[in-house]
Amino acid sequence: MKQPITPDKAETAGGSSLIMRFATATGLLAVVVVLLAVLFFHAMSGDIFQVAFQSPLEEWSATVAGHIGSDVSKAQAVAKIHKVGIIISSPDGHYAFGPDGEPADPEALLNDTARFRKIEVHIQHGTQVQPLTYSFMLDKEQLDEQHSPLLFGLIFLLLITIGLAYAIQLHLLRPLKWLHSGVDAVSGGDFSSKVPVVRNDEIGRVARAFNQMTGRVQQMMDDRERLLADVSHELRSPLARIKVALELLPEGDKRDAIGQDIREMETLTTVLLEREQIRNQASHASIEMLNLVTIAGEVIDGFSDAPPGVELNVPPQSMRVNGDAALIKILLQNLVDNAVKFSLADSKPVAVSLLQNSDEVQILVEDDGPGIAADQVEKILQPFVKLNPARGHRTGYGLGLNLCQRIVQAQAGSIEIHPREPRGTGVLVRLPKTGDRQV
Ligand SMILES: Nc1ncnc2c1ncn2[C@@H]1O[C@H](COP(=O)(O)OP(=O)(O)OP(=O)(O)O)[C@@H](O)[C@H]1O
Ligand SMILES: [Mg+2]
Repeated sequence: MKQPITPDKAETAGGSSLIMRFATATGLLAVVVVLLAVLFFHAMSGDIFQVAFQSPLEEWSATVAGHIGSDVSKAQAVAKIHKVGIIISSPDGHYAFGPDGEPADPEALLNDTARFRKIEVHIQHGTQVQPLTYSFMLDKEQLDEQHSPLLFGLIFLLLITIGLAYAIQLHLLRPLKWLHSGVDAVSGGDFSSKVPVVRNDEIGRVARAFNQMTGRVQQMMDDRERLLADVSHELRSPLARIKVALELLPEGDKRDAIGQDIREMETLTTVLLEREQIRNQASHASIEMLNLVTIAGEVIDGFSDAPPGVELNVPPQSMRVNGDAALIKILLQNLVDNAVKFSLADSKPVAVSLLQNSDEVQILVEDDGPGIAADQVEKILQPFVKLNPARGHRTGYGLGLNLCQRIVQAQAGSIEIHPREPRGTGVLVRLPKTGDRQV
């Protein structure tokens, strides 16, 4: 059994899917928005810009023209400071200054429409009979340059907005990730996992319904186990009575056959009761520091005479793990029993290897038997499932692997079954070193 899924655990589980799609869609949106902003500004510097900014430019020109009046030196200074060409026309003649403030040819300035944009204002001063005409020749490139900070500012704001929108999406989608982890846990057979319910929206309601569903399924499974154990328990007395009654029957083949059937039923009820006992033991497992190397050695000694033999590959140093010694022993016992039992006449010896890294220890049991088809791997972890029952040397009830799975889950570990090439089976058990037991 495992603890409820915590947000942190769920964050690390699986990274693709909807989140990736949102990221891609947001990235594409950002590109489109930036392109639109650039296109908009490009258009603004063309015809649209001319219309949009005509009036403020005329206002500016009128103010400047009023300041210049008929003072030629002021016109020259303004041309230089603002880098604009200025032409002042009066009935008496023309004065023209280029954007560098130097006297210039008025015709040349007026005709250079590729470079300049002309804003013309007419102002009458004092007693003059005719108004003066001021032509301000604005450098188009310089005008465009003034848009750049505006463009970059706008792009920056747009990107910030999109980034924020993405972060909000991620936040809203977090419960989906937890649900995903919950569904994964259930498909791995762990119906005790719960997903956090943090909101009351549609996803929150799905999470609540999911928790209720897994709770009910878990309850049903527990009831089934208890029923099996109770029936097994109740069967023991009638079986004992039948055995006594059988002794009173005359000897013969029929009596032997019935005796054999009764012994089989007795074994089955005993196994079922032991299983229930181990189930309870698993949920109250006593955690202690164990040396796996010693336990593995003891288990393997029990198989010393069983063909094809068992080899133990262990690291030179001891392998310490937190766990319940009795349960770990049952686990190893069952795995090695299967590997030996299902080996063929010409099979190589069974190999039991103990490995470790900083977080976990691994127990790998490999045999050279007929193997298990990949599509049967999930199935054989279920109780009472036996594949090709005729093939085994000794009979069993199809309960061993299910028991192993329970023990491993009680120790917060995992069990994986891998078909080997060209034949055989590898069963890999991972146990956390810390013994972070989740019952
Ligand atoms: N190493 C293996 N090689 C081939 N088949 C295997 C191996 N281990 C298990 N199986 C298949 O999986 C089935 C279930 O295994 P499990 O250990 O649960 O039951 P069992 O060994 O048949 O009986 P029990 O363990 O209750 O005595 C086996 O009947 C067998 O068909
Ligand atoms: Mg078995």
